Amino acid sequence: MATDAHLVALDTPPPAAVAPRRDTAGARHPIAGSATDHLAVADLTKTYPHAAGTTPRSVLRGISFAVPAGDAVALIGANGAGKSTLLHCCTRLIEPSSGSVEVLGQAITTLPHRRLRAVRAQIGFVFQRHNLVGRLSVLTNVVHGAQGRLPVFRAVAAWFNALAPAQLRAEAMHCLDLVGLAVFASHRADQLSGGQRRRVAIARALMQRPALLLADEPAASLDPGAGDEVMALFHDLTARRGITRVFTSHNLHHARAYADRIIALADGAIVIDRPAAQLAEADLRGLYA
Ligand SMILES: Nc1ncnc2c1ncn2[C@@H]1O[C@H](COP(=O)(O)OP(=O)(O)OP(=O)(O)O)[C@@H](O)[C@H]1O
Ligand SMILES: [Mg+2]
Repeated sequence: MATDAHLVALDTPPPAAVAPRRDTAGARHPIAGSATDHLAVADLTKTYPHAAGTTPRSVLRGISFAVPAGDAVALIGANGAGKSTLLHCCTRLIEPSSGSVEVLGQAITTLPHRRLRAVRAQIGFVFQRHNLVGRLSVLTNVVHGAQGRLPVFRAVAAWFNALAPAQLRAEAMHCLDLVGLAVFASHRADQLSGGQRRRVAIARALMQRPALLLADEPAASLDPGAGDEVMALFHDLTARRGITRVFTSHNLHHARAYADRIIALADGAIVIDRPAAQLAEADLRGLYA
């Protein structure tokens, strides 16, 4: 286990994180607007370009919600409901058609790309298909997590693990250690099992030291035991650091166990937005009818 002082910073909440905001009745605010919101989405729509001869279809329609600092939100809904599109719109990896997205108080929908990069550096993203570079080592993949917070020339050097500063490599080893995979550091990423790749993707996101973490099905395609382990790990590592997170899941048990709040999408619109403790799995099964 790494013990350097700069690594200890990984185990403390990011400075931007503040206590979750509650109203006088104790409920969390569902809609945008406060300085303590790490993510605020207002009236967001997305229509993908359509093939010739077909009618354009809005994949997201009038989505509004806010996530206070430190909160965990589970985004659920049937296949094709728009969950991945929504997460990607929150970083402009997919450009929204209209509406606004504020991340850490910055209206990213109108930011020029240079300033968008600075905000994105504080947003971790765990992709539905984990997006590791298979031919590179596990450690190099984790080092890549730091690229957004480095000056451009250092980010290029960090692409090649051997050129990355020793401090960065040590930090990446620490992140791998946190997810229990330090012994696989020198293996090629494409030699890992699905569960191990998911853990590496989480380590890479932690390496970014994000204030906000968006995770698209962090436990997808795993057997029930491995899925439970990855979700527990995801929850423990992010909650301990006070990282605000939004994750999508098809596992209703995970949504209820690891989120403060559940937002359900159906056909591109929010149909449920309630504290997880107020929802039973039976309340949610209708989404998949
Ligand atoms: N690049 C694209 N171009 C056109 N349509 C797209 C594109 N990406 C997604 N879609 C469509 O948008 C809708 C929502 O897709 P999205 O991937 O956001 O759903 P999802 O809720 O994440 O589904 P899943 O649970 O299967 O991951 C789907 O009908 C999909 O076919
Ligand atoms: Mg998806």
